[in-house]
Amino acid sequence: MSLLKNDLLLRTLRGEKTERVPVWMMRQAGRYLPEYLVIREKYGFFERCQTPELACAITIQPVDIVGVDAAILFSDILVVPQAMGLEVQLIESKGPFLPDPIKTAADMSRVIVPDVEETLGYVFDAIKMIKRELDGRVPLIGFAGAPWTLLCYMVQGKGSKTFDEAKAFCYQQPVVAHQLLQMITDTTISYLRKQAEAGADVVQVFDSWGGLLGPEDFENLSLKYIRQIVTALKDIVPVIVFAKGAWQSIPEMAATGAHGLGIDWCIRPETARRMAGENMVLQGNFDPAKLLSPIPVIEKEVTAMLDAFGGHRHIANLGHGILPNVPVAHAKAFVDTVKNWRPR
Ligand code: CP3
Repeated sequence: MSLLKNDLLLRTLRGEKTERVPVWMMRQAGRYLPEYLVIREKYGFFERCQTPELACAITIQPVDIVGVDAAILFSDILVVPQAMGLEVQLIESKGPFLPDPIKTAADMSRVIVPDVEETLGYVFDAIKMIKRELDGRVPLIGFAGAPWTLLCYMVQGKGSKTFDEAKAFCYQQPVVAHQLLQMITDTTISYLRKQAEAGADVVQVFDSWGGLLGPEDFENLSLKYIRQIVTALKDIVPVIVFAKGAWQSIPEMAATGAHGLGIDWCIRPETARRMAGENMVLQGNFDPAKLLSPIPVIEKEVTAMLDAFGGHRHIANLGHGILPNVPVAHAKAFVDTVKNWRPR
């Protein structure tokens, strides 16, 4: 495997002091890039995910265009429910749609813990191709959805502000819910192991809907399973856990042994630092909507964020995915401000 020319992210995740703060953006390969939209015209969403050449080209776009310090695999968290036997569609401007979601114990007969090599081999092929194409320019981040967030889609069948049907399922049929969460966990562990084997330098677990759960439910329905994933992976590859909105549980997330924690913009860096402890690497936490501000405002606000984190054990990122209506120049202003910043 080629040596990395830019290993800022990996050194930061090891807790080392680095010459500057590494930066990348969640959803950095996506619709705000005109070059992505060109590929999007010609191929369906899952076709883009399943074709290594396309996934590879899209993954590298933000490295070339915006100058981020890491690439993140172009794929989706919903390829795992697909591999587990459910049909998943992505409907233009509406989002994910699962025509036959899990509603009862009987529906569980349609769900399997798959051989990931057989069902998700295209992801590992894409990773190998991306690593070759990147040629050590920056590290590659692999990822998976957290079991709770995947259950949300597998039960609700589509996006939701509350995921009330997914919650009702967990509260009314807890035994089935935990069976499903465990199956997702087992699949995710083998999936992320294979991503690391194929060449992913870091993996991130996305719990986008962790913030819908109170602290007890977050422990019971989400963190219990994330902990299994971190335990299985942490000695193989650095792991970042991003549970959006679940900042009340930062101390418990830090205790999983994850190398980094993603945080959103609703918590002050100082507070997150206090809750996570001195040694934890924190990733975040710029409000993605603030990239719609004029560039001088972006520069000022990003500088304030960097000052608040203090330049050590910090990976600069957004607090959630970049929005499709952000001008590329604004994304660049975010990245450049981080690259030019030095601790005071
Ligand atoms: O970060 C990256 O650039 C890598 C690729 C990536 C995508 N999805 C591509 C994508 C990653 C890491 C994801 C993760 C993902 N997918 C999450 C967790 C992170 C988060 O944002 O909370 C979730 C919840 C999903 C499920 C999903 N996929 C939704 C809700 C949607 C529709 C909403 C939207 O943004 O359009 C998708 C589609 C999707 N996944 C797109 C991309 C680039 C947009 C597809 C398109 O229209 O081209």
